[in-house]
Amino acid sequence: MSQLFDSYKASYGEAVEGSIRFSGLKHEFFLAAKADLLRRLVTERRLRRGGAIVRALDVGCGVGSLHPYLDGVFERLDGCDVSQESILRASEHNPDVVYKTCGALRLPYDDSVFDLAFASCVVHHVSPASWLDFFREMRRVVRPGGVACIIEHNPYNPLTRLAVFRCPFDQDAVLLNAVKAAALFRQAGFRDVRYEHFLLLPSARRFARYLERALAPLPLGAQYACSARV
Ligand SMILES: C[S@@+](CC[C@H](N)C(=O)[O-])C[C@H]1O[C@@H](n2cnc3c(N)ncnc32)[C@H](O)[C@@H]1O
Repeated sequence: MSQLFDSYKASYGEAVEGSIRFSGLKHEFFLAAKADLLRRLVTERRLRRGGAIVRALDVGCGVGSLHPYLDGVFERLDGCDVSQESILRASEHNPDVVYKTCGALRLPYDDSVFDLAFASCVVHHVSPASWLDFFREMRRVVRPGGVACIIEHNPYNPLTRLAVFRCPFDQDAVLLNAVKAAALFRQAGFRDVRYEHFLLLPSARRFARYLERALAPLPLGAQYACSARV
């Protein structure tokens, strides 16, 4: 896995753009929607209780494409990935983020240090036999009362399926639906598990956002976020 993404260190964005070109949408649209979702998570899950700072970890951050969009969302952001080349690239572009390489199922952090740990489009690259261990490891590094979140492709959305089919680094991807993700969170010992589908409408306008939120329980959007509390 590390070698696969090492080879995309300079072309990751291009490969993603190529796989979603048919939609007419740019990668930035997806990144901005994910950043909005994480910003909302901080508020809705009350991670900033008493004005405390929020320390977040992006597991499988790749080349750090999402990080410029997260400016101001967390007081401190760490990122880790099994791909050393991706981490080098991410560090060059995001000097305020603290990066480390990690093992596939071992995060290089002490227990309970993060308020939020999230993984965007990572779990479908982890072998299903290791999914539960991946969730358990996320739980280990999140403080009691903190939250972990995964953002994943929605396997029921045909356009998502097409994008995955066209994406050169998704050839071995095993997609999991939101119900399965929620079950894994529970099995890993998390509580208060929630999920929402998003990226349904190709617009960032207020009404589109409103409609998308209303339809979020249904498996319609291109992706979903599943989060749970430690
Ligand atoms: C599709 S990319 C997503 C990158 C980034 N999260 C994003 O949304 O742009 C998947 C990333 O997950 C990393 N990865 C795969 N398995 C991992 C694991 N077990 N632990 C940490 N990173 C992993 C890969 O090296 C790759 O950079």
